[in-house]
Amino acid sequence: MKGLRSAPRPLRGEVAIPGDKSISHRALILGALVEGTSLIRRPNLGADVRATADVLGRLGAAVQLEEMKGLAKVEGVGLQGLREPDDVLDAGNSGTTMRLLAGVCAGVGGVSVLTGDASLRRRPMLRVVAPLRQMGATIDGRAHGNLAPLTVRGASLTGVDLELSVASAQVKSALLLAGLGARGRTRVGEPRPSRDHTERMLRACGVEVETGPGWCAVSGEQRGHALEGVVPGDLSSAMFLIAAAVLVPGSDLTLVDVGLNPTRRAALDVLKAMGADIDWDGSSCSLGEPLGTVRIRHSALQGFAVPDEWVPSLIDDIPALALIASQADGETVFTGAGELRVKESDRIAALVEGLRSLGADARELPDGIVVRGPSPLGGGEIDSRGDHRIALTFAVAALIASDRVRVKEWSCVDTSFPEFLDVLGEATSGR
Ligand code: S3P
Repeated sequence: MKGLRSAPRPLRGEVAIPGDKSISHRALILGALVEGTSLIRRPNLGADVRATADVLGRLGAAVQLEEMKGLAKVEGVGLQGLREPDDVLDAGNSGTTMRLLAGVCAGVGGVSVLTGDASLRRRPMLRVVAPLRQMGATIDGRAHGNLAPLTVRGASLTGVDLELSVASAQVKSALLLAGLGARGRTRVGEPRPSRDHTERMLRACGVEVETGPGWCAVSGEQRGHALEGVVPGDLSSAMFLIAAAVLVPGSDLTLVDVGLNPTRRAALDVLKAMGADIDWDGSSCSLGEPLGTVRIRHSALQGFAVPDEWVPSLIDDIPALALIASQADGETVFTGAGELRVKESDRIAALVEGLRSLGADARELPDGIVVRGPSPLGGGEIDSRGDHRIALTFAVAALIASDRVRVKEWSCVDTSFPEFLDVLGEATSGR
C-alpha cells in the first residue's frame, strides 16, 4: 500500500511519456515472426511487455530488452521458426500477451500452455479460442475453453471469414497473426473499429493487409521484413498526466512524441467536447503510427454524454476521464462500455466505489458509468484491485483531494507505467 500526499503543484513544461504498451507488444511479436533483427526504440518496459518478451523467448525467438539504452532487439526466426516451448508460458497480468500469443501458438507445432495471474485467469478467452478453433487449432481451457490456463495444440491453419461480436483489437490481432501463417485469406469483421496497430505494423513489415469499413484481411504465408523504429509515447498513460494538468490550477503541460493513432485518441475529443483547453498535432510517423505533441492547460469543464461509437477508441481512458468528469459541471455519461467489466478488474465497479469513497457523485450502469460534478474530493483508502489504471487514476485524484489518499496494491502500476511518479515529479518540478 502506498500513501500519496496531496501535491497541488501545477504541471508545466514538456514531458515525454514511455512507449505505447499495445504497440510494443506487437513490435516484439512481429519482430519474432519475421526473419532478421528488429530494433525497437523506446519500448514500453512495464511488466506486460516483459511477459510478451519472455513468452517469445520460450517459443525460440531471442528478445533482448536493453533498458539503459531504451532498446529492444529481436532476433526473428520467421513464421516456421518458432518451436514448441519447454515450459508453461506465463502472460502474467497481460490480456494482450495471452490473446495475441494464443493466435501465434495456434500455428506452432506441438503443445503450448498459456497461463497468467489470478486476474487474467478470470478474463474471457472464448472470444479468441472459438475463432482459432475454426481455423484448425485444438484449444482447451477451463470452463470449456473460456478460462486460462489454455492448452493450444498448434496445427496447419486455414484462413476463414470471421465476424466478431465484440470490438476487440486483441481478438482481431490474434486472428491476423494466426492468419499470417495460415493457408488462404483470413478476414475479420468487427462491430465497431478497434485500435488498428496490428494492421499498421504488419504493413510496416512489408506484409499486405486489406482493409475496408469494419473489416480487415490478411493472406497467409507472406514473409515480412525486420522492423526498425521508435515506439510512440503511450496516449493511455499520457491520459493520467493530461488529467492531472486539466485538474490542477495553473497547469500548462506539453507532452511530446505521443501516439495519436485515430483509433486510440477519442479521449482527446471527449476533453475538447467538455471544454478543455487542449490541442494536438501529429506530424510524424514511426512503425506506421502517427505521433506528435499534445498541449493541455487547466480548464473549466462541462459534462458530456460520450457517444457509444467512440468507446472502443477510448476504452482504456475511461478511468482517467471518469475522474475528470467528477470535476466537470453537470453529468458525464459513458454507455456501451460493458467491456470494462472484464478488464484487469471490473473497472465500472472499481471506479464507482473509489470515486464515491472520496466524495464524488458516481453510479454504475450495467454497461457504463454516470458521474455528476463538480464535487470536492476528500481523502480515503482506495482498493485498486491490483489494476494499474485504477491505481493511476486515484494517484491523480490525490493531487486535488483535500486529504490523504491511499492506494492499495500501488505496485500494480508496474504493469504499464512504472515511471509514473518520476514523470509526474518532472512535470511538477516547475521546469
Ligand atoms: C489492447 C486492446 C484493448 C485494450 C487493452 C490493449 C490491445 O483490449 O483494452 O488494454 O493492445 O490490443 P480489447 O481488445 O480486449 O478491447
